[in-house]
Amino acid sequence: MDDFRASVDVGFVLNGAAVSVAAEPGERLSYALRERLGAREVKIGCNAGDCGACSVLVEGDVVCACLMAAHQAAGKRVETVKGVLAGTEGRALVASFQDHQAAQCGVCTPGMMVSAVALLREVPQPDAGQVQDALGGVLCRCTGYRKIIDAVVSAGSGVAQAQVSGGVGVAMRRLDGLAKVEGREAFGDDVAPDGALAVKVIRSPHPRATFFFGDLETFVAGLPGVECVLTAADVPGRNAFGVIPAFVDQPVFAEGEARFRGEAVAAVVGSAEVMAGFDPASFPVTWQVLPSVQTVAEALAAGAPLLHQGRAGNVMCGGFVKRGFADAALARADVVVEARFESGFVEHAYIEPEAGFAEVVDGRVEIHACTQAPVMDLDSMAEILAMPREAIRIVPTAVGGGFGSKLDISVQPFVALAALKTGKPVRITYSRQESMQSTTKRHPSAIHLRIGATRDGRLSGMRFEGDFNTGAYASWGPTVANRVPVHASGPYLVPDYLAQSRAVHTHCPSSGAFRGFGVPQSAIAQESLFDALADRLGMDALEFRLLNALENGQPTVCGQVFAQGVGIKACLEALRPAWEAGKAEVAAFNAVNSGLKRGVGIASGWYGCGNTSLPNPSTIKAGLRADGVVVLHQGAMDIGQGSNTVIAQIFASALGADVRDLVLVGPDTDVTPDAGKTSASRQTFVSGNAARLAGVSLRAMILERCNAAVDAVLRFDLGVVEVTDGADVHRVELADLAPDGEGYVLRAEERYDPPTLPLDANGQGSPYAQFGYAAHLVVVEVDLKLGLVKPLRFVAAHDVGRAINPLLVEGQVQGGIAQGLGMALTEEYLPGRTENLHDYLIPTIGDVPPIETLIIEEADAHGPYGAKGLGEHVLIPTAPAILNAIRHATGVAITRVPATPSRVRAALKEAGYE
Ligand code: FES
Ligand code: FES
Repeated sequence: MDDFRASVDVGFVLNGAAVSVAAEPGERLSYALRERLGAREVKIGCNAGDCGACSVLVEGDVVCACLMAAHQAAGKRVETVKGVLAGTEGRALVASFQDHQAAQCGVCTPGMMVSAVALLREVPQPDAGQVQDALGGVLCRCTGYRKIIDAVVSAGSGVAQAQVSGGVGVAMRRLDGLAKVEGREAFGDDVAPDGALAVKVIRSPHPRATFFFGDLETFVAGLPGVECVLTAADVPGRNAFGVIPAFVDQPVFAEGEARFRGEAVAAVVGSAEVMAGFDPASFPVTWQVLPSVQTVAEALAAGAPLLHQGRAGNVMCGGFVKRGFADAALARADVVVEARFESGFVEHAYIEPEAGFAEVVDGRVEIHACTQAPVMDLDSMAEILAMPREAIRIVPTAVGGGFGSKLDISVQPFVALAALKTGKPVRITYSRQESMQSTTKRHPSAIHLRIGATRDGRLSGMRFEGDFNTGAYASWGPTVANRVPVHASGPYLVPDYLAQSRAVHTHCPSSGAFRGFGVPQSAIAQESLFDALADRLGMDALEFRLLNALENGQPTVCGQVFAQGVGIKACLEALRPAWEAGKAEVAAFNAVNSGLKRGVGIASGWYGCGNTSLPNPSTIKAGLRADGVVVLHQGAMDIGQGSNTVIAQIFASALGADVRDLVLVGPDTDVTPDAGKTSASRQTFVSGNAARLAGVSLRAMILERCNAAVDAVLRFDLGVVEVTDGADVHRVELADLAPDGEGYVLRAEERYDPPTLPLDANGQGSPYAQFGYAAHLVVVEVDLKLGLVKPLRFVAAHDVGRAINPLLVEGQVQGGIAQGLGMALTEEYLPGRTENLHDYLIPTIGDVPPIETLIIEEADAHGPYGAKGLGEHVLIPTAPAILNAIRHATGVAITRVPATPSRVRAALKEAGYE
């Protein structure tokens, strides 16, 4: 949605057909295309020329449609992704993008596709550099770009041809890939019916302020087209939401006092045309600015304003793990290293801002919006609306990236309240600034760490203290506070250990879930100090890690012992050739260069898959119809990571069917059971297990019908399942079976909940049924004069237990590394200062170097076919590996991320560099 209204006819040729739209002078071409001509394949990520999602071709040239006025297209030829599909280049790219897994969430893909078509028309066989230049204006937050480069370079060559079908272990195309590359995927802003009203949220411009409204009735009456205003008084139920029942504290609309810049206080609902031109500054609200606290230190200071009653000193909660006697071990250690580390807010920066619509259907409210957690949304909305769960339906749209932030509700209450109050469909799309201001971030951290070792290089004690800025409201802060002490040791044997964390409220946006839940921050500290410790011991950094890496049968810092499945040593060993080669390469380079220095760094990571010591179930349902079609109801949200494909592959293998023969029913709280939230690297593991069980169960029912052996081969045909059991062929005639209310003649519904045990007061217990393991290596080049750090290549080893789809594994790894690179070098969200994709710097296609992915398969007894989760692991080792490489190159330890050029330069100067 946008800020213009129509008045002047503009004619141009869109995808080969003459069109005419009534557009106001100055109206964005993107708005005219999407809202007036229905070209929803043109995506909007920023409306500011920063993201390139809106890229189209005008007279064959790539332009940002959000920056071009519609009238500038008059008489010209405009092509969207839909218009280029039939051409030679488009057809080649459609195949190549799918073969290379170049689209994850798919929201950037239309912009990538048209930019690539423009390049291929000029340069039929481009090299990687030409692709990077041509696609440099389009941002992608999911893929890490390398697959996109590969896809364009090899388009039409027929080199890579992924399989189009297959079960567990097959590197097949995504089942939902074609819709993404053709621009047909419908995201949150693509689904509202014509004529839907629009809602705009009124937000606090101050980090802390009391406020009062003027005469709202007069305001509404004075603006024709405005239907109503919503405030806290319009929330029929509990004016609060949150993701952890004991910490539900964020109001839908603040009452009396706003606690962060961007907090919602009211909303205005009106016709889309009127709301497009609505200026929030015209809303009758008066602010009284109050002193605020922005940092943990300020929030903890005596006399600091208290954000929430009952949370003394602004400390929301803490986490604690104690094993053995850390202080005594450190006192007797031969070598001890210690340092303080800091990190700032990191923004998820998915390309799709939050969006959706709601309508009332037969007395029920239906909410269509982007989300990672539809059933959690349902629970929250039932409380907010004071409606029974049965009266609410959550229909998730495609999600244009989430990475944790879309676990929390955002637009849902606004559209639902507005639809219920007006009785009409209501839509909303956050602006980029609104998205960045109001949604969750990665926690800023301040960590003090001490690690000791004996002379022979064995870890002997570790003491970790971490404070996390959790912002104004709880969100996933308690999860971060609990998870960090469990993981802060890294995947190593640490006999004496003490780790404590605090989540502290400030008048900042809420910190929440972001790929790793605090573990990336603690890994920076631990893995950086490991290099310092190895140096002090005179040991090689890889050998030091291998000496201390956990093995099967050894206890974690929580006292949990895994008899199998511990894969960190295998990951580290896999890096050995690249490590030796990297050291030799940088030594040779440094011997003949003075202004540029290169270094190689490694770091490890681990991550417990699923909730920490809490129930964590998923349920998957499948049914066999009388016509022989198998329908898989899988409610695991695919936010780009690939669960639509992976879970179907697992189910198909368990059932003994071809994955292409399945009909998939995606998340919808009316028709799919609860597969839990897409977070904590749990979907492949937990929902995958539920899918496996459902497949096994449905298969058993079929085999039972003809007393066939367990290894019989099934073939699903029209109205029949043919069962080949050795020399016998049985036919299960489905017309003979009575269909149930959903039309299924056979059905299976299975639930899986990972076995975990609670942690005791010292954090001892069995918090996870499985961990995944990772080790990254990076070679960097540091410009000593500019402080600029340039990663040159990555090698990433990941223990995934069993790669259900190796192509998707590579996609996850590369995307995670790109995000880790951003966290390490460029990304810092500063409220009020970096609230757009121009000032907030995520990696571009030119920033991500080649990435080699090494897949390690140390099978896990709990995983489906041995598989482990992967989504978080892919980011955890990246930033510390980069910091270690900088240290290797320069001898200078960087302890604050992002390591921006100015920070690196300052550290170099302090270390005596000119
Ligand atoms: S929407 Fe046009 S550049 Fe981002
Ligand atoms: S696939 Fe590029 S932003 Fe998601």
